[in-house]
Amino acid sequence: MSPQLLPWTACVLTLFPEMFPGMLEHSLVGRGLEEGRWSLDTIQIRDFATDKHNTVDDTPCGGGAGMVMRPDVVADALEAASVRFPMAKKVFLTPRGKTLTQEKVRELAEGPGVVLLCGRYEGIDQRVLDEHDDLEEISIGDYVLSGGESAATVLLDACVRLLPGVIGKEASHEDESFEAGLLEYPHYTRPRVWRGREVPETLLSGHHEKILAWRKSQAQRITQDRRPDLWAAYCKETKGSA
Ligand code: 6GU
Repeated sequence: MSPQLLPWTACVLTLFPEMFPGMLEHSLVGRGLEEGRWSLDTIQIRDFATDKHNTVDDTPCGGGAGMVMRPDVVADALEAASVRFPMAKKVFLTPRGKTLTQEKVRELAEGPGVVLLCGRYEGIDQRVLDEHDDLEEISIGDYVLSGGESAATVLLDACVRLLPGVIGKEASHEDESFEAGLLEYPHYTRPRVWRGREVPETLLSGHHEKILAWRKSQAQRITQDRRPDLWAAYCKETKGSA
């Protein structure tokens, strides 16, 4: 298969462009990059500094610990990215953002691409966010990272694996965790018995309907057990469609 006419584009704004592609040059996502199914550019935020010391941050107004990224430098970098990628969705990676979900990943992957702004230090000046109301704030979970770069890597991996041709066609996304609002069922392969542990009988029965039913009940059991939030949403959803 030949790559799309217009590949999905990623542009990462960062003080550490050497962190990219990083993990993203490996495995299927890396092959997709090589094959031109998506593109990855980085912009060094420091290139937009205007003083002789290339300063990008300053002390917080009102006092306190850490440093804040200057609005003039960050906005100039962001606006340069917008000129190069006018159609791309702009995202600021921050623990204060809305939590990334598979639904949001799907939405971003279906678009033309993303511009990802990675913060360091304590954060960026609020006025950049107020000025750019098309900049969406996204977090990857309720914990704090030292910077947005690893979160950007996570977001890109999740999006790129959904692009056409990146993962072989045998790997349908339908069965995956979250696709039906449930965590995925457990997997088994040979040998049939390993350290006295057997592969569940049903999976060896060759009875396709029974296998589907077993997998569904396992997915439900695991979700109910581990993720009461997902389970409640699933129950509400299935009641509505029953
Ligand atoms: Cl997107 N950035 C940082 N610095 N920490 C995070 C995060 C993002 N998501 C969760 N923790």
